Amino acid sequence: MSPNPFADHRAAALYESWYTSPEGRRVDSLEKKALLWTLGELGPVTSVLEVGCGTGHFTRWLGKKGMANVGLDTSMPMLEQAKLLGTDALVQGDALALPFANGAFDVVALITTLEFLAEPQKALVEGLRVARLGLLLGVMNRWSWLGISRRLTSLVRPNVYDTAHFYSVPELERLLEPLSEDVSTIAWRCTLFPRWWPSECSHLPWGGFVAMVLGKAGTG
Ligand SMILES: C[S@@+](CC[C@H](N)C(=O)[O-])C[C@H]1O[C@@H](n2cnc3c(N)ncnc32)[C@H](O)[C@@H]1O
Repeated sequence: MSPNPFADHRAAALYESWYTSPEGRRVDSLEKKALLWTLGELGPVTSVLEVGCGTGHFTRWLGKKGMANVGLDTSMPMLEQAKLLGTDALVQGDALALPFANGAFDVVALITTLEFLAEPQKALVEGLRVARLGLLLGVMNRWSWLGISRRLTSLVRPNVYDTAHFYSVPELERLLEPLSEDVSTIAWRCTLFPRWWPSECSHLPWGGFVAMVLGKAGTG
């Protein structure tokens, strides 16, 4: 398995500052819109565990939306940043063995995390175990201009995405197939289309970011 690029203090210290750049603010706002739209498909959500919370950027945001929230990450440097930035509840742990009881949270979220996991399917099964209503996924789209340009950048300039595996929507759907008995609904939207594209968020599978929810079977 490739080493976690976010286990590094420098990468952790730089991570959050990207969200304050003009492009970072645009991306952040569009990703949050798409995540909220998909999350709405699960009905009212009161608690969320963010697996791979990093600096807690989305964990804090979900908290501001009124959800009790916990962030979990393997990387101590990322958790230290999350703490500095005011994330309240943080746990060091692994996506593949979550230290929580079955159904402990309404939703388990993995936002730009699946891409860095050696055993993504195992992490999804583990997330579904801990979730009562379902999973919220945010994934960088392999079949998008953004995904292709990030992969090309990695060829010439080493960065934290070098070891990441971006997913296309069909590839994500294939990854989810073995979970089909435990999943009642799947809903997704793409965002981060080129700036000239008329729609911010749509069902066309080539936006740079895929927001997806999986509803857990037996909860509807
Ligand atoms: C790209 S960052 C995403 C952080 C945050 N979700 C966001 O979107 O701002 C990916 C995070 O996944 C974490 N991660 C990688 N492997 C992990 C694992 N096995 N279990 C939990 N977290 C993991 C990394 O440490 C890193 O903080």
